[in-house]
Amino acid sequence: MDIKPDVRIKLESDDPEKRAYLQELADHLALPKPSLDIGAADFYLLLRNSRLELHRAKAEEVKQSPLFIDFLSGPSYYRFIQNKRIDQPLAKAVGIKRGYRPTILDTTAGFGEDSFVLAALGCSVTMLERSGVIWALLNNAISRSLNNPKTHKIFAEQVTLLYIDSADFLEASANSFETIYLDPMYPLHRSSALNKQKMRLLRDLVGSDPDSCHLLPLAINKAAKRTVVKRPLRAAYLAEKPPSFSIKAKSSRYDIYLRPHL
Ligand SMILES: C[S@@+](CC[C@H](N)C(=O)[O-])C[C@H]1O[C@@H](n2cnc3c(N)ncnc32)[C@H](O)[C@@H]1O
Repeated sequence: MDIKPDVRIKLESDDPEKRAYLQELADHLALPKPSLDIGAADFYLLLRNSRLELHRAKAEEVKQSPLFIDFLSGPSYYRFIQNKRIDQPLAKAVGIKRGYRPTILDTTAGFGEDSFVLAALGCSVTMLERSGVIWALLNNAISRSLNNPKTHKIFAEQVTLLYIDSADFLEASANSFETIYLDPMYPLHRSSALNKQKMRLLRDLVGSDPDSCHLLPLAINKAAKRTVVKRPLRAAYLAEKPPSFSIKAKSSRYDIYLRPHL
């Protein structure tokens, strides 16, 4: 990672359960003890009801909406309800076919949107995230989804989330995954206003993944069947490596690297 913003955990409640949750989070992420006073931090995490939110702390930015992840409303939920098609570009890219659901390693979990689509289509998905703050938001969204009957089964049976750098995981893991998926940050990200704000926040938090080209050969080496890289429609190939083929979507492109023997 190329940046390290100062993130604190703000404690606004006396509720012992919330205190314990936030203290455990601080320990897990090696952050200072949760407190009402967040000092000169750039960002703070706040638990509102059961939802963990990331807020900007600097005066000129506080009006921006907080960042949280929610699989139970908004575009992710809409996609989950409306789009179970196995001919959508993401599904085709990872190799989903009638009667076949590859096991997926998502090396760049982020907001978990792509993983959620793939899990909802029936894939077993292991998500990796190296930003502690994004991992915490994702972990919190998964907990809330586990408590909802509509999404419980998917998250209980098909989704695993780990807080780890994917390069370390790929180097150490003996596990085999049929498809390995990469969606690193890229310079000019998607277009809608909401996404712009969300992606700007993500970029300010995690940087621009300048090491993503090193992830590609590790993934290609480990994937049992294919590695898939999501890129902007007209971007250069990651690590300048031409794929076996590409699938185009509306604003992005999936570059697919098949195992040489397949
Ligand atoms: C563009 S976002 C991914 C968005 C995601 N595909 C989605 O649907 O929400 C990239 C994410 O990958 C994470 N990331 C980048 N390189 C990583 C690595 N080597 N290991 C783990 N996470 C990584 C970043 O911290 C960031 O959260």
